[in-house]
Amino acid sequence: MNFDLPILAPSILAADFLKLGEELQTCKDSGINWFHCDIMDGHFVPNISYGPAIVGAVRKSVPDSFLDIHLMIENPDKYIDDFADAGSDLISVHYEACPHLHRTIQSIKQNGCMAGVVINPATSTELLKPILPEVDLALVMSVNPGFGGQSFIESSYQKVQELKEIRSELNTEFLIEIDGGVGTKNITKLVQTGVDVLVAGSSIFKADDIPKQIGELNTLALKGSGKVI
Ligand code: DX5
Ligand code: ZN
Repeated sequence: MNFDLPILAPSILAADFLKLGEELQTCKDSGINWFHCDIMDGHFVPNISYGPAIVGAVRKSVPDSFLDIHLMIENPDKYIDDFADAGSDLISVHYEACPHLHRTIQSIKQNGCMAGVVINPATSTELLKPILPEVDLALVMSVNPGFGGQSFIESSYQKVQELKEIRSELNTEFLIEIDGGVGTKNITKLVQTGVDVLVAGSSIFKADDIPKQIGELNTLALKGSGKVI
């Protein structure tokens, strides 16, 4: 799959769920084509969000968009086929939640999805080396997972840099995604550092004017990539 980078990925966790279809359409009309869905189980992370039924509803509402599913759940293997059937394009699992990570990644691919691996703020990028040749995306958590609206953890830049170096060292290809506390203040630097996919929840859906905010975030992201001045 070819992507036009960098990609701005709204996290629907921060959307108004009673107006979800409407808000997805607003994003689409503003040029968004990649949506991030945060699945939380109240065990791996302290919060509970939503499950495959909502992912299926999102799929129906934006049939042509790319759906990026971030599983923050214990025992993700048990639910991979449910999320694949619901219409996921990419399923990412946490390094910390998968004792048999290689098997889990293979199972995501066997279900016809792209596969991603995620690390928490306290997990080192070094630990990902053996699995990186197998994945399509590596996600750096720039907040502790569980809630939207938290502050960006500054050491995440270093991790992005390390993943970029490991990617060329291993001569492999995967997208680098960042998730948590992304907004107008840090998006340019994140892209400059090497982020390909930028997840943004509160900074998009809590904005007074969503299309204007998406436009601004996109311009600032493109600035980081050198595509606009
Ligand atoms: C946190 C989630 C994030 C979150 C991002 O556990 O993985 O995707 O929704 O939200 P903001 O952009 O509000 O930090
Ligand atoms: Zn997420």
